[in-house]
Amino acid sequence: MPLLLGVNIDHVATLRQARYAMNPEAPILEPSILEAAREAQAGGADSITVHVREDRRHMQDDDARLLRSEIDLPLNLELANTPEMLAFACELKPDFACLVPEKREEVTTEGGLDVLAQFDSLRESIPALQKAGIKVSLFIDPEPAQIKAAADLGAEMIELHTGTFALSQGQEQAEELTRLQAGAQQGHELGLQVNAGHGIHLENIKELFHVKNLIELNIGHTLISRSIFIGLRAAVAEMRSAMGAYPLD
Ligand code: PXP
Repeated sequence: MPLLLGVNIDHVATLRQARYAMNPEAPILEPSILEAAREAQAGGADSITVHVREDRRHMQDDDARLLRSEIDLPLNLELANTPEMLAFACELKPDFACLVPEKREEVTTEGGLDVLAQFDSLRESIPALQKAGIKVSLFIDPEPAQIKAAADLGAEMIELHTGTFALSQGQEQAEELTRLQAGAQQGHELGLQVNAGHGIHLENIKELFHVKNLIELNIGHTLISRSIFIGLRAAVAEMRSAMGAYPLD
């Protein structure tokens, strides 16, 4: 199966909120989240990702509801592991829920969710989401103990945090790539679907292709940035085309 592309459209809401956060009743709210999702779909997105943050700084609850009812693509909701957000997810019923850190204390050294520290709480949260028919992913660093904990908790997926890889260069990047390779293999062997995301763009994606066993990439910032110049549909198509070079075996 070709590598799948999940398109994160949070920054469309970031732009809208920059103008309309204080005027949500304005006659026209732009840019439209729905139109963005439709353009992403037309460009070849395999799923749409939105992060409804606890502070609602970009996506609003109604944005996610609208996407759920109007867009005929799998919806991936990123959320914090809190009672409020879990209740929202169980009501929304996205196809996938990716638990992400939002507060300092939820984060491991590099920035993924600290599954080990939150093990007891996740032991309740993950089955609650699964009972609502939602497949669960955990956004984690490529650390063996975190990956094992994700499998022990019965999550269906992990999303390996590629932020450190994206920000580093040279030897440091090569080392992070090795960690990602080992993490993807470990996750795969443990029966997890292994995804990856954060900071991926058309330049560094070629290096990332050295990581085997990846099923889906979640990409946002670069697509919305490129869309300023070539449009979202073309930006997604361009990324899709680049992803065609991922070696399948
Ligand atoms: N994956 C997760 C869990 C994220 O929170 C984000 C957004 O920060 C992304 C992927 C996409 O990252 P980017 O916008 O850097 O492509």
